[in-house]
Amino acid sequence: MHWLDTFQDYLNRPLRERLTYYQKDGRISDIMVSQQFSLDFLQTIFDLTDQVREIEKTQKGAKFLTTLLHPKRGMLYFTQPSTRTFLSFTNAMQMVGLMVSEVRDPSLSSEIKGETIEDGLRVIGKYSDVIVMRTPQPGLSEYIAYLMKQWGEDILIINGGSGQDQHPTQALLDAYTIHQFFKERGGISGKKYGFVGDLWRGRAARSLVYLLSQFDNIEMFMVAPEKFQIGVDLQEHLEKFKIPVQTTTSLKEVLPVIDCLYMTRVQDEYDQLSESKQFDDSEFHLTPERVALMKQESMIMHPLPRRQEIDTAIDFDPRAKYWQQVSNGMYVRAALLLYLFQQEKELQAFSQ
Ligand code: NCD
Repeated sequence: MHWLDTFQDYLNRPLRERLTYYQKDGRISDIMVSQQFSLDFLQTIFDLTDQVREIEKTQKGAKFLTTLLHPKRGMLYFTQPSTRTFLSFTNAMQMVGLMVSEVRDPSLSSEIKGETIEDGLRVIGKYSDVIVMRTPQPGLSEYIAYLMKQWGEDILIINGGSGQDQHPTQALLDAYTIHQFFKERGGISGKKYGFVGDLWRGRAARSLVYLLSQFDNIEMFMVAPEKFQIGVDLQEHLEKFKIPVQTTTSLKEVLPVIDCLYMTRVQDEYDQLSESKQFDDSEFHLTPERVALMKQESMIMHPLPRRQEIDTAIDFDPRAKYWQQVSNGMYVRAALLLYLFQQEKELQAFSQ
Protein backbone atom coordinates (compact mmCIF):
# COMPACT_ATOMS: atom_id res chain seq x y z
CA MET A 1 0.00 0.00 0.00
CA HIS A 2 1.21 3.50 -0.73
CA TRP A 3 0.35 6.25 1.72
CA LEU A 4 -0.55 8.50 -1.19
CA ASP A 5 -3.57 6.32 -2.02
CA THR A 6 -5.28 6.97 1.32
CA PHE A 7 -4.24 10.62 1.15
CA GLN A 8 -5.92 10.90 -2.24
CA ASP A 9 -9.29 9.92 -0.70
CA TYR A 10 -8.76 12.52 1.95
CA LEU A 11 -7.86 15.21 -0.62
CA ASN A 12 -11.19 14.65 -2.35
CA ARG A 13 -13.00 15.98 0.73
CA PRO A 14 -14.02 19.66 0.79
CA LEU A 15 -11.40 22.04 2.17
CA ARG A 16 -13.58 22.99 5.14
CA GLU A 17 -13.76 19.36 6.22
CA ARG A 18 -10.03 18.82 5.69
CA LEU A 19 -9.16 21.80 7.81
CA THR A 20 -10.93 20.38 10.86
CA TYR A 21 -8.16 17.80 10.76
CA TYR A 22 -5.70 20.53 11.64
CA GLN A 23 -7.52 21.63 14.77
CA LYS A 24 -7.40 20.40 18.32
CA ASP A 25 -9.97 21.42 20.96
CA GLY A 26 -11.34 24.09 18.61
CA ARG A 27 -7.90 25.65 18.03
CA ILE A 28 -5.66 25.55 14.99
CA SER A 29 -2.90 23.02 15.58
CA ASP A 30 -1.13 22.74 12.21
CA ILE A 31 -0.61 25.54 9.69
CA MET A 32 -1.41 24.49 6.14
CA VAL A 33 -3.20 27.22 4.18
CA SER A 34 -4.28 30.79 4.86
CA GLN A 35 -7.99 29.91 4.57
CA GLN A 36 -7.58 28.46 8.07
CA PHE A 37 -7.19 31.90 9.63
CA SER A 38 -10.40 33.50 10.86
CA LEU A 39 -10.60 37.19 11.72
CA ASP A 40 -10.62 36.27 15.43
CA PHE A 41 -7.52 34.17 14.98
CA LEU A 42 -5.81 37.04 13.16
CA GLN A 43 -6.62 39.45 15.97
CA THR A 44 -5.21 36.97 18.50
CA ILE A 45 -1.95 36.69 16.53
CA PHE A 46 -1.71 40.49 16.14
CA ASP A 47 -2.15 40.96 19.92
CA LEU A 48 0.32 38.19 20.76
CA THR A 49 2.84 39.68 18.34
CA ASP A 50 2.53 43.10 20.00
CA GLN A 51 3.06 41.47 23.39
CA VAL A 52 6.10 39.48 22.27
CA ARG A 53 7.70 42.60 20.76
CA GLU A 54 7.12 44.52 23.97
CA ILE A 55 8.36 41.77 26.30
CA GLU A 56 11.45 41.09 24.22
CA LYS A 57 12.68 44.66 24.67
CA THR A 58 14.03 44.05 28.17
CA GLN A 59 16.61 41.47 29.18
CA LYS A 60 14.25 40.11 31.82
CA GLY A 61 11.50 39.78 29.22
CA ALA A 62 13.73 38.16 26.61
CA LYS A 63 14.90 35.65 29.22
CA PHE A 64 11.31 34.91 30.23
CA LEU A 65 10.36 34.22 26.59
CA THR A 66 13.11 31.59 26.31
CA THR A 67 11.57 29.65 29.21
CA LEU A 68 8.19 29.30 27.52
CA LEU A 69 8.75 26.43 25.10
CA HIS A 70 11.95 25.01 26.56
CA PRO A 71 12.87 22.09 26.22
CA LYS A 72 10.73 21.46 23.15
CA ARG A 73 12.39 20.90 19.79
CA GLY A 74 11.82 22.69 16.51
CA MET A 75 12.92 21.37 13.11
CA LEU A 76 13.36 23.33 9.92
CA TYR A 77 12.96 21.04 6.93
CA PHE A 78 13.81 23.40 4.08
CA THR A 79 14.49 21.72 0.76
CA GLN A 80 13.86 24.87 -1.29
CA PRO A 81 15.97 28.05 -1.09
CA SER A 82 15.06 30.48 1.66
CA THR A 83 16.68 33.32 3.57
CA ARG A 84 13.93 35.26 5.40
CA THR A 85 11.56 32.44 6.24
CA PHE A 86 14.41 30.21 7.39
CA LEU A 87 16.14 32.86 9.49
CA SER A 88 13.00 34.36 10.95
CA PHE A 89 11.72 30.93 12.00
CA THR A 90 15.14 30.01 13.44
CA ASN A 91 15.28 33.23 15.44
CA ALA A 92 11.61 33.01 16.44
CA MET A 93 12.17 29.47 17.71
CA GLN A 94 15.21 30.55 19.69
CA MET A 95 13.29 33.53 21.08
CA VAL A 96 10.64 31.27 22.63
CA GLY A 97 13.08 28.62 23.87
CA LEU A 98 12.79 25.89 21.25
CA MET A 99 15.92 23.90 20.48
CA VAL A 100 16.41 24.12 16.72
CA SER A 101 17.71 21.64 14.14
CA GLU A 102 17.60 21.78 10.38
CA VAL A 103 17.56 19.69 7.23
CA ARG A 104 18.29 21.79 4.15
CA ASP A 105 19.80 19.37 1.72
CA PRO A 106 18.03 16.00 1.35
CA SER A 107 20.94 14.71 -0.75
CA LEU A 108 22.92 14.57 2.51
CA SER A 109 20.24 12.50 4.24
CA SER A 110 19.15 8.90 3.84
CA GLU A 111 16.76 9.80 1.03
CA ILE A 112 19.83 9.29 -1.16
CA LYS A 113 19.99 5.65 0.05
CA GLY A 114 16.45 5.13 -1.17
CA GLU A 115 14.56 6.04 1.99
CA THR A 116 11.10 7.34 1.15
CA ILE A 117 10.20 10.91 2.02
CA GLU A 118 7.46 9.50 4.28
CA ASP A 119 9.94 7.44 6.33
CA GLY A 120 12.47 10.27 6.27
CA LEU A 121 10.01 12.73 7.76
CA ARG A 122 8.78 10.21 10.29
CA VAL A 123 12.38 9.93 11.49
CA ILE A 124 12.71 13.71 11.64
CA GLY A 125 9.46 13.81 13.60
CA LYS A 126 11.01 11.62 16.29
CA TYR A 127 13.35 14.50 17.13
CA SER A 128 10.80 17.30 16.89
CA ASP A 129 7.73 18.81 18.49
CA VAL A 130 7.17 21.08 15.52
CA ILE A 131 8.43 20.89 11.93
CA VAL A 132 8.42 23.86 9.57
CA MET A 133 8.50 22.64 5.97
CA ARG A 134 9.52 24.52 2.85
CA THR A 135 9.37 22.38 -0.25
CA PRO A 136 9.01 22.77 -4.01
CA GLN A 137 6.08 20.30 -3.97
CA PRO A 138 2.63 21.84 -3.49
CA GLY A 139 0.67 20.09 -0.73
CA LEU A 140 3.63 18.17 0.72
CA SER A 141 3.29 19.67 4.20
CA GLU A 142 -0.41 18.79 4.26
CA TYR A 143 0.43 15.24 3.25
CA ILE A 144 3.01 14.95 6.02
CA ALA A 145 0.66 16.51 8.61
CA TYR A 146 -1.97 13.98 7.54
CA LEU A 147 0.50 11.10 7.88
CA MET A 148 1.72 12.22 11.30
CA LYS A 149 -1.87 11.89 12.50
CA GLN A 150 -2.27 8.48 10.85
CA TRP A 151 0.90 7.35 12.61
CA GLY A 152 -0.22 8.76 15.95
CA GLU A 153 2.78 11.09 16.11
CA ASP A 154 2.09 14.17 18.23
CA ILE A 155 3.92 16.72 16.06
CA LEU A 156 2.83 20.06 14.69
CA ILE A 157 3.50 20.85 11.04
CA ILE A 158 3.81 24.37 9.68
CA ASN A 159 3.81 25.06 5.96
CA GLY A 160 6.72 27.45 5.35
CA GLY A 161 6.03 27.63 1.60
CA SER A 162 4.77 24.77 -0.56
CA GLY A 163 5.78 25.18 -4.20
CA GLN A 164 3.51 27.51 -6.14
CA ASP A 165 0.73 26.76 -3.76
CA GLN A 166 0.69 28.62 -0.42
CA HIS A 167 2.80 30.47 2.12
CA PRO A 168 0.42 30.98 5.04
CA THR A 169 2.92 32.38 7.58
CA GLN A 170 4.00 35.00 5.03
CA ALA A 171 0.33 36.00 4.76
CA LEU A 172 0.21 36.34 8.55
CA LEU A 173 3.21 38.65 8.69
CA ASP A 174 1.89 40.60 5.71
CA ALA A 175 -1.49 41.00 7.39
CA TYR A 176 0.23 42.14 10.60
CA THR A 177 2.23 44.74 8.65
CA ILE A 178 -0.93 45.98 6.94
CA HIS A 179 -2.73 46.05 10.30
CA GLN A 180 0.10 48.15 11.82
CA PHE A 181 -0.12 50.65 8.97
CA PHE A 182 -3.92 51.00 8.87
CA LYS A 183 -4.51 50.72 12.64
CA GLU A 184 -4.99 54.47 12.98
CA ARG A 185 -6.47 54.75 9.49
CA GLY A 186 -9.65 52.72 9.82
CA GLY A 187 -8.16 49.21 9.70
CA ILE A 188 -7.63 46.63 6.96
CA SER A 189 -11.30 46.74 5.86
CA GLY A 190 -12.54 49.20 3.26
CA LYS A 191 -9.18 49.54 1.48
CA LYS A 192 -8.05 48.99 -2.08
CA TYR A 193 -5.30 46.41 -2.60
CA GLY A 194 -3.15 46.11 -5.72
CA PHE A 195 -1.20 42.91 -6.45
CA VAL A 196 1.49 43.10 -9.12
CA GLY A 197 3.71 40.56 -10.89
CA ASP A 198 3.51 36.79 -11.10
CA LEU A 199 0.08 36.24 -9.56
CA TRP A 200 -0.30 32.88 -11.20
CA ARG A 201 2.60 31.18 -9.42
CA GLY A 202 3.35 33.49 -6.50
CA ARG A 203 2.39 31.68 -3.31
CA ALA A 204 2.89 34.74 -1.09
CA ALA A 205 0.34 36.79 -3.05
CA ARG A 206 -2.08 33.85 -3.26
CA SER A 207 -2.08 33.26 0.50
CA LEU A 208 -2.55 36.96 1.21
CA VAL A 209 -5.44 37.27 -1.27
CA TYR A 210 -7.26 34.41 0.48
CA LEU A 211 -6.67 36.04 3.84
CA LEU A 212 -7.72 39.57 2.89
CA SER A 213 -10.90 38.35 1.21
CA GLN A 214 -12.48 37.96 4.66
CA PHE A 215 -12.38 41.70 5.36
CA ASP A 216 -15.35 43.96 4.62
CA ASN A 217 -15.58 46.32 1.67
CA ILE A 218 -12.20 45.69 0.19
CA GLU A 219 -11.39 45.89 -3.50
CA MET A 220 -8.59 44.16 -5.37
CA PHE A 221 -6.64 45.10 -8.49
CA MET A 222 -4.62 42.34 -10.12
CA VAL A 223 -1.88 43.81 -12.30
CA ALA A 224 -0.05 41.21 -14.38
CA PRO A 225 0.73 40.18 -17.93
CA GLU A 226 -1.94 37.82 -19.23
CA LYS A 227 0.11 34.68 -18.65
CA PHE A 228 0.79 35.54 -15.01
CA GLN A 229 -2.74 36.57 -14.06
CA ILE A 230 -4.53 34.90 -11.15
CA GLY A 231 -5.75 31.38 -11.82
CA VAL A 232 -9.23 29.89 -11.57
CA ASP A 233 -8.69 28.97 -7.91
CA LEU A 234 -8.45 32.62 -6.85
CA GLN A 235 -11.03 33.81 -9.39
CA GLU A 236 -13.62 31.42 -8.02
CA HIS A 237 -12.76 32.23 -4.44
CA LEU A 238 -13.02 35.99 -4.95
CA GLU A 239 -16.31 35.56 -6.76
CA LYS A 240 -17.66 33.48 -3.90
CA PHE A 241 -16.60 36.13 -1.40
CA LYS A 242 -18.09 38.86 -3.63
CA ILE A 243 -14.85 40.85 -3.73
CA PRO A 244 -14.77 43.42 -6.53
CA VAL A 245 -11.71 42.52 -8.61
CA GLN A 246 -10.21 44.22 -11.60
CA THR A 247 -7.58 42.42 -13.67
CA THR A 248 -5.39 44.68 -15.77
CA THR A 249 -2.00 45.09 -17.42
CA SER A 250 -1.76 48.78 -16.59
CA LEU A 251 0.16 49.52 -13.41
CA LYS A 252 -0.02 53.26 -14.02
CA GLU A 253 -3.83 53.28 -13.96
CA VAL A 254 -3.99 51.39 -10.69
CA LEU A 255 -1.30 53.28 -8.73
CA PRO A 256 -3.34 56.45 -7.96
CA VAL A 257 -6.29 54.42 -6.68
CA ILE A 258 -4.87 51.86 -4.27
CA ASP A 259 -4.05 52.05 -0.56
CA CYS A 260 -1.72 49.06 -0.49
CA LEU A 261 0.53 47.82 -3.27
CA TYR A 262 1.88 44.25 -3.10
CA MET A 263 4.76 43.72 -5.54
CA THR A 264 6.08 40.26 -6.48
CA ARG A 265 8.81 38.86 -8.68
CA VAL A 266 8.49 36.48 -11.64
CA GLN A 267 8.69 32.95 -10.19
CA ASP A 268 10.86 31.61 -13.01
CA GLU A 269 12.30 28.77 -10.93
CA TYR A 270 9.12 26.90 -11.91
CA ASP A 271 9.75 27.33 -15.64
CA GLN A 272 10.45 24.25 -17.67
CA LEU A 273 12.11 26.15 -20.50
CA SER A 274 13.26 29.29 -18.67
CA GLU A 275 10.81 31.17 -20.88
CA SER A 276 10.01 33.88 -18.35
CA LYS A 277 13.71 34.61 -17.79
CA GLN A 278 13.63 36.20 -21.22
CA PHE A 279 10.40 37.97 -20.48
CA ASP A 280 10.65 41.76 -20.20
CA ASP A 281 8.49 42.65 -17.20
CA SER A 282 9.71 46.25 -16.85
CA GLU A 283 6.15 47.56 -17.34
CA PHE A 284 5.35 45.99 -13.99
CA HIS A 285 8.27 47.57 -12.11
CA LEU A 286 7.92 50.31 -9.55
CA THR A 287 10.11 53.31 -10.38
CA PRO A 288 10.35 56.63 -8.51
CA GLU A 289 8.28 58.25 -11.31
CA ARG A 290 5.54 55.68 -10.86
CA VAL A 291 5.57 55.94 -7.05
CA ALA A 292 4.87 59.64 -7.51
CA LEU A 293 1.43 58.59 -8.82
CA MET A 294 0.54 56.87 -5.53
CA LYS A 295 -1.45 58.38 -2.66
CA GLN A 296 0.60 59.92 0.14
CA GLU A 297 -1.23 57.69 2.64
CA SER A 298 -0.46 54.34 1.06
CA MET A 299 1.97 51.47 1.57
CA ILE A 300 4.29 49.45 -0.64
CA MET A 301 4.94 45.80 0.16
CA HIS A 302 7.01 42.95 -1.27
CA PRO A 303 7.60 39.50 0.25
CA LEU A 304 11.20 39.73 -1.08
CA PRO A 305 13.56 38.66 -2.60
CA ARG A 306 13.25 41.42 -5.19
CA ARG A 307 14.99 41.79 -8.48
CA GLN A 308 14.14 44.94 -10.42
CA GLU A 309 10.49 45.15 -9.35
CA ILE A 310 11.21 47.98 -6.94
CA ASP A 311 13.90 50.57 -7.61
CA THR A 312 16.17 50.76 -4.54
CA ALA A 313 15.69 54.56 -4.42
CA ILE A 314 12.14 53.77 -3.23
CA ASP A 315 13.56 52.16 -0.05
CA PHE A 316 13.84 55.70 1.35
CA ASP A 317 10.19 56.50 0.68
CA PRO A 318 8.14 56.39 3.92
CA ARG A 319 5.52 54.33 2.07
CA ALA A 320 8.00 51.45 1.58
CA LYS A 321 7.16 48.78 4.18
CA TYR A 322 9.00 45.74 2.84
CA TRP A 323 11.86 45.99 5.32
CA GLN A 324 9.26 46.27 8.06
CA GLN A 325 7.72 43.02 6.76
CA VAL A 326 11.10 41.30 7.19
CA SER A 327 11.47 42.31 10.84
CA ASN A 328 7.82 41.63 11.63
CA GLY A 329 8.24 38.08 10.30
CA MET A 330 10.32 36.97 13.28
CA TYR A 331 7.86 38.33 15.87
CA VAL A 332 4.76 37.06 14.11
CA ARG A 333 6.30 33.58 13.87
CA ALA A 334 7.31 33.65 17.55
CA ALA A 335 3.71 34.64 18.41
CA LEU A 336 2.37 31.87 16.20
CA LEU A 337 4.56 29.25 17.92
CA LEU A 338 3.38 30.47 21.32
CA TYR A 339 -0.22 30.23 20.14
CA LEU A 340 0.27 26.70 18.79
CA PHE A 341 1.73 25.59 22.12
CA GLN A 342 -1.03 27.44 24.02
CA GLN A 343 1.11 29.95 25.91
CA GLU A 344 -1.26 32.95 25.82
CA LYS A 345 -1.99 32.91 29.55
CA GLU A 346 1.70 32.79 30.49
CA LEU A 347 2.40 35.72 28.19
CA GLN A 348 -0.51 37.69 29.60
CA ALA A 349 0.59 37.01 33.19
CA PHE A 350 4.07 38.36 32.49
CA SER A 351 2.71 41.49 30.82
CA GLN A 352 0.55 42.39 33.86
C1 NCD B 1 8.60 34.37 -1.09
C2 NCD B 1 8.56 32.88 -1.28
O1 NCD B 1 9.52 32.16 -1.06
O2 NCD B 1 7.49 32.44 -1.65
N1 NCD B 1 9.64 34.78 -0.28
C3 NCD B 1 9.54 34.70 1.09
O3 NCD B 1 9.30 33.66 1.66
N2 NCD B 1 9.67 35.85 1.76
C4 NCD B 1 8.51 35.13 -2.35
C5 NCD B 1 9.42 34.80 -3.49
O4 NCD B 1 10.27 33.93 -3.42
O5 NCD B 1 9.26 35.47 -4.52
